[in-house]
Amino acid sequence: MEIPVRIGQRVTLLIHGITHDAEGVGRLQGFAVFVPEAIPGDEVEAEVISVKKQYARALIYRILKESPDRVTPLCSHYHECGGCQLMHASYQAQLRYKRQQVESALKRIGGLEGVVVHETLGMANSANYRNKAQFPVGMQAGRIAAGCFKPRSHDIVDIASCGIQHDANNRALVFAKELAQKYKISVYDERLHEGLLRHILVKHAFSTNETMVVFVINGESLPQGEKIAEELMSRLTSVVSVQINTNKRPSNVILGPETKLIAGRDYIIDELDGLKFKISARSFYQVNPAQTKVLYGKAREYAALTGRESVFDLYCGVGTIALFMAAHAKHVIGIEIVPEAIRDAEENAHLNRITNTEFICGAAEDVVPRLIKQGQRPDVYIVDPPRTGCDEKLLATIAANKPDRLVYVSCNPATLARDLKYLSERGFAVVEVQPVDMFPHTSHVECVVLMSRVKE
Ligand SMILES: C[S@@+](CC[C@H](N)C(=O)[O-])C[C@H]1O[C@@H](n2cnc3c(N)ncnc32)[C@H](O)[C@@H]1O
Repeated sequence: MEIPVRIGQRVTLLIHGITHDAEGVGRLQGFAVFVPEAIPGDEVEAEVISVKKQYARALIYRILKESPDRVTPLCSHYHECGGCQLMHASYQAQLRYKRQQVESALKRIGGLEGVVVHETLGMANSANYRNKAQFPVGMQAGRIAAGCFKPRSHDIVDIASCGIQHDANNRALVFAKELAQKYKISVYDERLHEGLLRHILVKHAFSTNETMVVFVINGESLPQGEKIAEELMSRLTSVVSVQINTNKRPSNVILGPETKLIAGRDYIIDELDGLKFKISARSFYQVNPAQTKVLYGKAREYAALTGRESVFDLYCGVGTIALFMAAHAKHVIGIEIVPEAIRDAEENAHLNRITNTEFICGAAEDVVPRLIKQGQRPDVYIVDPPRTGCDEKLLATIAANKPDRLVYVSCNPATLARDLKYLSERGFAVVEVQPVDMFPHTSHVECVVLMSRVKE
């Protein structure tokens, strides 16, 4: 096909689709043009900035006709900040796009036609839903700035109040920034690998109103750390934990291996569905507590437990899903690769007086074959892998083990589709797919999928 556009050309496009990373899609003589910040229904004049064999990318020069789904973003930082991608679309439209994104990945990547994909389960109030933020720190006009990066750059947008964060996290950020300024804490410069303060990490437990603040530093100690912690805790009474994390590596990884307490305790406690969870600086915990209940509730419904089943919870993090299932199953084994998370999972079981769970540290693809060799045969598998999806060795083991049901929780439709395809070709059928909006206003979507074994 001849490429009908060139760099610098202004083109008029009717946007009819949206990509998985929230760029509008228009066509020029059948050739795809991706337009950041455009949504279906927009008619735009856009300037082409790059051309590849299969597609071009263009930036909006002006909007000729607005989509009926366009809205004013709820956050004043939205247009500068790269944290959210869909805030200019109504929430109902976002939920529609996310369902389409899942359907399209299942078809395109998984070759799965006719799968039931339900409407995305959204939030009644989609603002201020996040319980965790990692704000990068930099200098702007001689003052400490912290917030987020501009899209595709490391330029900092100084955030006064992030529209998707809990108010306690926003206030903690503002106070932490002011105190760093007051006590003249130096700021890390990533090009020179010099200076101290790199990130401000905040976590808030919605149910108990406890906040944690972690100063991520390129050093061992924070000058005036005790004073800073004392002032922080007196200005924001929800702060029960102030810590420093040492990260001396010149990389984009935010947290380093070592965390030290300055004041309070080294964890906060959150409650979910009557269960208590201990959250430390480094452990993974779902960022949207309201929707976590919805997500895990769906996973539990799909697991269809009667109290007699043995369950494997793979990629279990701090054991949240395992503990959520425990009261409904005979026995649950959680498997996770991070040792600290396994320790937290064990403590969480103890904290909730749950005695029918067991947690094993290791890679799921190594531990599961071992357990099966030892004679285990779980009735239900639950997997919740990172964005990369499941290791093929694990999928092969699961398929050969022939459980009745498999519940797949996924934060990446592309790897989900790849893995469902693999299992569909080995004796399992996708029963239904439920997208859940864990990350409103961003392009990300979570899914829970029920697969069952096809009877021979
Ligand atoms: C998306 S999180 C899910 C955590 C947990 N299920 C939850 O809902 O909080 C994925 C987890 O998988 C863990 N992980 C990554 N690779 C792994 C592997 N090969 N085997 C076991 N766990 C792994 C990560 O450390 C992380 O805790």
